[in-house]
Formats: sequence, structure tokens, C-alpha cells
Amino acid sequence: MQNKMVIKSAVREAGNDPIFKVSGMAKKRIAEIGKENVINATLGALMDDDGNLVAFDSVYSVFDNLDRTEYASYAGIAGTPDFLENVVYACFKHQKPDAHIRAVATPGGTGAVRHAIRNYADTDDYVLIPDWHWAPYETIANENGRKVKAFPLFSDDGGFNLEGYFGAFDNLLDEQKRVLSIINSPAHNPTGYSLSDGEWEAIKAHYIEKANENPDYRIILLCDIAYIDFAGHGESARDFMNILTGMPENVLVLYAFSASKGYTMYGLRNGAILCAAPTEAIADEFAASCAYSNRGTWSNGTHAAMTTLSQIIADDTLRAAFEAEQEKYRDILQARAKAFLDAAKTADLEICPYVDGFFISIPCENTEAVRDELITKDFFIVALKHGLRFAPCAVSEAQCRIAPEMIKAAIEKVNG
Ligand SMILES: Cc1ncc(COP(=O)(O)O)c(C=O)c1O
Repeated sequence: MQNKMVIKSAVREAGNDPIFKVSGMAKKRIAEIGKENVINATLGALMDDDGNLVAFDSVYSVFDNLDRTEYASYAGIAGTPDFLENVVYACFKHQKPDAHIRAVATPGGTGAVRHAIRNYADTDDYVLIPDWHWAPYETIANENGRKVKAFPLFSDDGGFNLEGYFGAFDNLLDEQKRVLSIINSPAHNPTGYSLSDGEWEAIKAHYIEKANENPDYRIILLCDIAYIDFAGHGESARDFMNILTGMPENVLVLYAFSASKGYTMYGLRNGAILCAAPTEAIADEFAASCAYSNRGTWSNGTHAAMTTLSQIIADDTLRAAFEAEQEKYRDILQARAKAFLDAAKTADLEICPYVDGFFISIPCENTEAVRDELITKDFFIVALKHGLRFAPCAVSEAQCRIAPEMIKAAIEKVNG
């Protein structure tokens, strides 16, 4: 009997997630030979030096003490009023753009990406993403009847490839009359790249030029800021938010906010999509469309997680304790990344331009073969299309220091 009961466009291959598969192998190996003998640099979650998931005290001391009704009750379709107010600060902090701001709660940043794609890219249209990208962008686009088009992220001098981006952008704008572009910065997954203020200025100038060419064009930028709280020092990572204002009315800037990394709430599914709109009408339209999308997909988000974030942000003492804990782990992550970068230099290992964040990428050929070679040394890493992804968020500083030489040796063994 044929086993195709699902419709043609929904036929999918099972169990092929490259990250969870390799991380499962790493866990099995840890059970066999002990965690001190395995490097598991696969998962995008912050671990302490012993390989245990970090769950912030400043977050869970609030969460654990909520009234039971906070866990049990619905949050309302768009999110609780307290959350919708406080998530604006969580997203922008003191760099709130001079624009019409609205927020709609979503289950993590994934939900925000979903709503942007569903509501701002037309059916069968292409969404513009970089060649190095978070794989679910493509999954979410496919799931919603949209496609993705990739532009080259890096120029030869190791910066954002403005020329490549503008070329791909202009082609899509010409063909589709609207472009939804997703840029994951700062602390891009998988490379750790962050656009400079000058690069954002150039992008803004290009949007203004194109938007003024034809008032019927629609230009939508989704800034995916999933890792922003692990970038920069103090608030410098948010400076670009004020650059992206003052554009024509046919340009809209959206933000995909995630509480997964910044608040260690991965499994609580908490986030939001926010707009910094040029007019009140465009902001109202955004809020109505995204609330409708909530109703038509997951109905509403995790109430207790929304309340936790709201209480932390609204209370000066709780917020100060939370920001101090975040900073402590940001410093640990930055020290690990530095150890890797220094060792990569010594080992003469080429890496993608890294500024901040959970991941460092190593461009190479035959990525799966190199990964498999490393697995024989009990070193687990993710093989992507254009290279390997190493996760300093998940391993100790000491492991970051020995990893580059091992990677270099594996690449040489496989690729000669
Ligand atoms: C680039 C990027 N965007 C968005 C997300 C969204 O994550 P979540 O839905 O858990 O908030 C992730 C998580 O891995 C990510 O890496």
C-alpha cells in the first residue's frame, strides 16, 4: 500500500535535523566515556563549564514564585498588556526608535519570523536571506508557501557584502515590487558577525533611494535580534536601531525579539514581533495582522513566561539583578570566543568574520566528512553547507583553546 496520505507539498523526510542528530550522538558518547572527554560544540544554548544548561537565577526566582493561575490561564491573543509594554524595553532598551512602536507576543523568535514571512512576503515570493543563515528561515518560508533567495553575506575584505546584497535586493524588488529581507545581527547565527553602523547607514541609504523610486514598492526589513543580549558591551549592540528610522513610508522595520537566549527561556517559548513603523496606520495594520496570525496558528503564548519578563523589566531591583547576571555570562562567552579566536590564529585556521555571539563558523569543503573525522576524536560540531559551526556557548574556555588545532588537522586530513 502506498503510504502517501499527506498532500504532495507536505511530504517531508523524517529525522534529518543535522544539529539534533549530532548532538544526540555527543550525548551518547558522553554517557560512555564521561563529559570531560568529549567536546560537544553543537547546541545553541548557553552551558556552564561543566556542560550544564544555564538557567538564570534572576529569571527562575521570579518564575518559580508566580501564582498558579499565571501558569494555567490564557495570555490573551496578542499577549498580556504588561508584556506588550515591557517587551518594548526588553527589545530596544534606551535605543527606542522615534517611530510608531507596537508589539505582538509570539512563541520565541521563531514565531516572529513566521509572522513576518506570512504577512509581509506574498505567496510564492522570495524572502531575501544571506547565504550563511539559520536553516529554519527556509523551513518557515516553505511551510508557509514562500521561498528564499540567498545573497552572499561577506565581501572579500570580510565585511557585509553591500554590493551583493543590493544586487539581490534590487532584482527581487524589480520582480516582486516588495521585498522582505531578514538580517540577523548583531551576533549572527552561524558566524557571529555583526553589521557595523556604517553598513547599516549604507543599507538605509539604499532603502531610501529605492523607496523613493516608486511609491508602490514595499520594503520590509526584519531584524532578527535573537542574540542581541550577548553582543557588545552595555548597550552598544542596540545603536543601529536608531539608525533605521526616518525612512519613507513604504519602508517598514520589524524586530524579531526572542527571550530564549537572553532570558534563558528556550523551552518556555517566549518572544515578540515588534514594528518601528513610519505611521500610526502602518503600526495598527501590523498589530491587527500579527494578532490574527497568532489566533490562526498557536492562539496565544506562554502566560507565565510573559509575566516573568514583565515583572523583571518593570522592577528596578529585579532588572538590575537580571542585567548583572546576563553580563556575567556575556563576559564568559566573550572570553571563550576570544580563546578560540586566539588559538585559531596560532593554528592558522581560517574562520568567518566573528564579532560576538553563540557561534563561530569555519569555512571549508566536504563539511560532513570533516565533521565525521572530528567525531572520531570525540569532538562534535555542526556541518553546514558552507562550513562547520562551532558553539563557544556550549563548551568551556579550555575546550575553546584546543578546538582550532583539532579542526585544522581534520580539514587537512580530509581535504589535503
Ligand atoms: C538566528 C535565530 N533566529 C531566531 C531564533 C529563534 O529562537 P526561538 O524561537 O527559540 O526564540 C534562533 C534560535 O536558535 C536563531 O538562531
